[in-house]
Amino acid sequence: MRLEILKDEEAMSRRAAEVIARAVREKPDLVLGLATGGTPVGTYRELVRLYREGRIDFARVTTFNLDEYVGLEPHDPRSYHAYMEEHLFRHVNLRPEATHLPDGWAEDLEAECRRYEALIEAAGGIDLQLLGIGRDGHIGFNEPGARWEQGTRVVRLKPETRQDNARYFGGVLEAVPERAISMGIRTIMHARRLLLLAAGPHKAEIVRRAIEGPVSRHVPASILQLHPDALVLLDECAASQLTRARALARRQEQASG
Ligand code: PGA
Repeated sequence: MRLEILKDEEAMSRRAAEVIARAVREKPDLVLGLATGGTPVGTYRELVRLYREGRIDFARVTTFNLDEYVGLEPHDPRSYHAYMEEHLFRHVNLRPEATHLPDGWAEDLEAECRRYEALIEAAGGIDLQLLGIGRDGHIGFNEPGARWEQGTRVVRLKPETRQDNARYFGGVLEAVPERAISMGIRTIMHARRLLLLAAGPHKAEIVRRAIEGPVSRHVPASILQLHPDALVLLDECAASQLTRARALARRQEQASG
């Protein structure tokens, strides 16, 4: 796992967009895994800027999002479908048929999970997967205790996660769906490259546990320590509780620059 510490959230977002843009330049038909939440908003803003400047072309890119709530209508503005339209899809030249999210409105949710997993496989697997991290260590909606070997499936959200996301539901906890469809840890770990982002002081403790703690099902993001090509981008605040990893990041920086 490689680690870079950037001075603030904006610098982190610029760096993340740069990593994605370079991956698309190297492989124009990249299969890109996407994330939602507050963290990647700046990355999408940067990607839109790079697109407008003619520095990234999404014409042949395929995308797969990590997750979607169960039970929101397809055009519900609080859905991750709507989030992706707002922050990325409608601003760039991604082909609509090449963007994928799980369908949380599907009648047969189990069949939908299988369909999603098969779609990813048919696309040749994910080349680069963008990830955020929840305060409880979740990646996608894989909450603490999730089994490593699981693929896309229906998950039950922890109260802490629903609380964190209530801000998108008018602050009303009860309005946040209790279930979602999420890529599993296995799906995520099969991606050829992982790019995890975290910013802000409220992420400092979980970042330390994920990066410097033992690999454990209690902290799903800790599995990244076992991925052969994972890059973690943090802002100074999110990195503030690191000790060993911080020194290592500094040495890597000195060596490369
Ligand atoms: P956030 O969520 O970016 O809104 O903090 C991260 C996550 O839950 O993965």
